[in-house]
Formats: sequence, structure tokens, C-alpha cells
Amino acid sequence: MPNLEGKVAIVTGAGRGIGREHALALARAGASVVVNDLGATLTGEGADETPAQQVVAEIESFGGAAVADGENVGDFAGAERMVRRAVDTFGRLDILINNAGITRDRMLVNMSEEEWDAVIAVHLKGHFAPMRHAAAYWRERSKTGDEVRARMINTSSPSGVFGNVGQANYGAAKAGIAGLTLIAAQELARYGVTVNCLAPNARTRMTEAAFGEIPKPDDGFDAMDPANMSPIVVALCADEAQHVTGQCFFVYGGAVNVLRGWDAGDLFARDERWDADEFLAELVERFPDGAAPDGMVAMMARAGGRSARLGASGATT
Ligand SMILES: NC(=O)c1ccc[n+]([C@@H]2O[C@H](COP(=O)([O-])OP(=O)(O)OC[C@H]3O[C@@H](n4cnc5c(N)ncnc54)[C@H](O)[C@@H]3O)[C@@H](O)[C@H]2O)c1
Repeated sequence: MPNLEGKVAIVTGAGRGIGREHALALARAGASVVVNDLGATLTGEGADETPAQQVVAEIESFGGAAVADGENVGDFAGAERMVRRAVDTFGRLDILINNAGITRDRMLVNMSEEEWDAVIAVHLKGHFAPMRHAAAYWRERSKTGDEVRARMINTSSPSGVFGNVGQANYGAAKAGIAGLTLIAAQELARYGVTVNCLAPNARTRMTEAAFGEIPKPDDGFDAMDPANMSPIVVALCADEAQHVTGQCFFVYGGAVNVLRGWDAGDLFARDERWDADEFLAELVERFPDGAAPDGMVAMMARAGGRSARLGASGATT
């Protein structure tokens, strides 16, 4: 395992699910960890510091260093306090893992304004706010002459990069996070910060609420174990990964696919403005069978190299 001793990490939404596994894995690799979790319900209501405190206790039980943090990641000032907590408690910050999330699934035609706003706030603003404050901290360190080797790892989703029916709010936020990752990677390279994102697949309360119980295999490899995501995070945090940035890692069991999204596509080029009739004719000729998204499940199967049947051998949100 890469040695992360001396490094300090924040993991948001680390009280349970995938974030908990990231926090445990980073601590086992030697990092000191700020275990952030609001302790909200799956739909984002309420607050409870117990899950974050339990993860801190687990880390301390194997000799690691951790502190609990109950800030709401979608609160700009709260995110600043979280970054400051890392620096005040452990003296520095090297790694920011943005993972906290909620779901309020609904078909677009029925979605309320509140359902839209709540999900965008936790995911998209909940990535922007910690990234913004951590970036300012690292820029400051870089300006004072420190050699910064910092990491941001964001959490997108197959729902965002492939587009899942019934998740307009969540998928839009997750697509936004993939876009934010691309921009931040380019802006922050000059300060020594890499920015990547995950598109995970795991058995957590989030996927079980969406797809029902996801059974564990009686023996053999459990492709839906949330701990399957964390080695990728630990590897990206190693100093040797300094030149890997702006990438989106789809992870499903033992399949890790570095996705290529919004690539240069089908060019319709001429040296003058298109006439609408001519463009339509060209469109029909180039796409005789039409053009439409393949959908998340089909794309997941292609990305993971095998069929991911919801509820049985795999599920995703
Ligand atoms: N489980 C999957 O298959 C899957 C797939 C794609 C993406 N994701 C993403 O992975 C991340 C982790 O999800 P999970 O499946 O572990 O879900 P989870 O519900 O088990 O964990 C999410 C955690 O985030 C915390 N949280 C919620 N709102 C918060 C806020 N405003 N501030 C701080 N903490 C907050 C919750 O209290 C919870 O502990 C999420 O971003 C999710 O969208 C999960």
C-alpha cells in the first residue's frame, strides 16, 4: 500500500458507506483523517455526529489519527471551517475526498423545486465549497515556496456520466462534478494539485434504497463491497500519481475504467453557415437509425466489461 504517513486528509460523508471505507483506507495507509459527516438521512434531513465519531473510534482502534467534523458540505462557511479544522488539528492539509451525498429521486415531470435544490446543494455546491477553500489554502502554500503535492478526489456517478432515468437532479449534479473536475484539474495543476473523480458502484444504503437489497455472495469476491473503491483513492493520493489528473475512474468490483467523456465526436463541417434544410438532410443521412443515449445500464456493462444487473450482481446510483 502506498505510504501516506505525514499526510492529512479530509473525507466528506465519511460516517458510512463508501466514504467510511475511504477514511479507513487512508488512515491505514498512514494519513491523519478529518472524518466529515453531517449524519443526515438519505434524503438529507437531520444531523447526527454519531456515524463520524464511530469511524474516528475505529481509526483510533488500529492506532490511526482522526477527528470528527459535522459540517454541512453545502455550506460555504462550514466548508471553510472544515478545511481550517484539518490545518488546526493536524497542521496541514494534503488530500480532499469529496464524497458526501444524498438522493431525492423523481421523474423530471414530477420533480419539485425543493428536490432539485437540495440535491444540487449537497453534491455540486458540496463539492465546490470544500474545493474552493482547499484550493485557496494550497495556492497560499505554493506561493510561499512549498512543494505542494495535493489531491482532490471527487465523486461523480454512472448516473451523471451515462445518464440515469429518474435522477435528473442527482445526475445533473454528478455530471457537473465531472465537469468541475476537468476545470479544477487544469486550474490547479500550477499549484501542484491533482483533481480526479470516481464513478463508483457499491452496496450502501443509497443503492439499497434505489434498487432493493443487494445480496452478498456466500463466498468469493464481493463486487459490490464499498471497500472496492478505496484502493483507487489511496493510489491516486500517492506522490507517484502526481501526473494523473482530470480523470474519471469508473469502479465496479475489480473493473476500473478510466472513462472518456464528451470526446470530439461527429463533425459536420463546411466553410459557410449551414442551411437548416441541408443540415437536416445531412443529419438524417449520417444517423439513418437515429441518435439517442444508450442508457446507464448498457453503458455500465460496457464500462465494467460485464453485465451489471440491478439488484442481483450489481446496482448503481
Ligand atoms: N453507492 C453507490 O453505488 C454509488 C454510486 C455512484 C455514486 N455514489 C456516490 O458516492 C457517495 C457516497 O455514497 P454512499 O453510497 O456511500 O451513500 P451513504 O448514504 O451511505 O453515505 C453518504 C454520507 O454522506 C453524508 N452526508 C449527506 N449530506 C451531507 C452533507 N450535506 N454534509 C456532510 N455529509 C453529508 C451522509 O450522512 C452519509 O453518511 C455519494 O456522493 C454518492 O452519490 C454512490
